[in-house]
Formats: sequence, structure tokens, C-alpha cells
Amino acid sequence: MTSDHQSGPHSEITLRVNGKPRTLLVDHRRVLLDLLREDFDLTGSKKGCDHGQCGACTVLVDGRRLNSCLLLAVTLDGSEVTTIEGLGGDGEEPHPLQRAFLDRDAFQCGYCTPGQICSAVGMLAEAAAGHPSHVTGPEVPSGRPVPLDRSEIRERLSGNLCRCGAYPRIVEAVEDVLP
Ligand code: FES
Ligand code: FES
Repeated sequence: MTSDHQSGPHSEITLRVNGKPRTLLVDHRRVLLDLLREDFDLTGSKKGCDHGQCGACTVLVDGRRLNSCLLLAVTLDGSEVTTIEGLGGDGEEPHPLQRAFLDRDAFQCGYCTPGQICSAVGMLAEAAAGHPSHVTGPEVPSGRPVPLDRSEIRERLSGNLCRCGAYPRIVEAVEDVLP
């Protein structure tokens, strides 16, 4: 149990992080991103803007992609958190999207890459579950899986910024893993 903040209210919470239960006393002001990076040494999730605007900190919480810089850890008691480090399961093999990013040369500095990949995993699940996006046409039946063409991929990943401009290769990498 660790916390850098010893003043103010604390609560004990339990998270499953990349499949492992972690119980700790957490300051109510502590955000998930800081907890992951500083307390759990999971530094794959990046702090880009710290204001919910760049997507570099994206992780999956109970399967949904969320900006971890905006999530108070104390609100997540009992949640399942998956970071870029946990996407490959037992670590024997990279996640297919990680492999596709490598194959497509889809990053330059790589700072945005963990967030891009976590976001893409969440986005694929959203489309499969029939969630429309801003560019989904009326011809797509409600509640049915949404086909992901390039405009859908671009729109659905538009919350993840890449300062290097690796977007074309990122779209190609996502296309490689479409069902
Ligand atoms: S660091 Fe969280 S959105 Fe930028
Ligand atoms: S590869 Fe550098 S920020 Fe995206």
C-alpha cells in the first residue's frame, strides 16, 4: 500500500490491474493515471496533457476506453483495468494491434502509441457492439455491428492525438486487425 499524498481523506480500494488484484489505500484526489505510473510502475500509459485532451493516457476500464488522467481512482473500486502492458495477456505474444503497429511502422516517437492502441481496442469493441459514431450512416441497422471504413476509424480515434503525424499508418494498422 503506497500513496504519496498523506493528507486528506483516503479509502482502501481493490482494482484488478492487468488481471492481478491490487488493494491499496488511495487519496481521494489521486487519478488513475498517476496510480498506474507511480504506484504500480506501469509507465506505458503516458501523461500528455493531463486534461483529457490528447488520449495518451487511454486505458480500458471494464472493457471501455477511458482517459485515465480524468478518473479518480477512488471511484473505481472493484473495476478491471487493462493497460498497454496487459493487452497481450500473459505477455507471451503481443496483442494483434501491437503487432500491426510494428508491422505498419505506425509510430515515430511512440509517445501516443499506448493510448492509440488501447483506444483502438476499445473502439473495435464499440463498433462490434453496434455503437454508432458521428460519421455512421443511416443505412447501418441500429444495434448491429458497424463496419469500420477509414472515415469511421479516423473519427473514432480522433480523441487520440499524435504529435508526429503517424495517422496514415495508424489507420492502416487498425485496418489490419478488422474482423
Ligand atoms: S494525458 Fe489524459 S488525455 Fe492527455
Ligand atoms: S508517434 Fe509521436 S506522438 Fe505519435
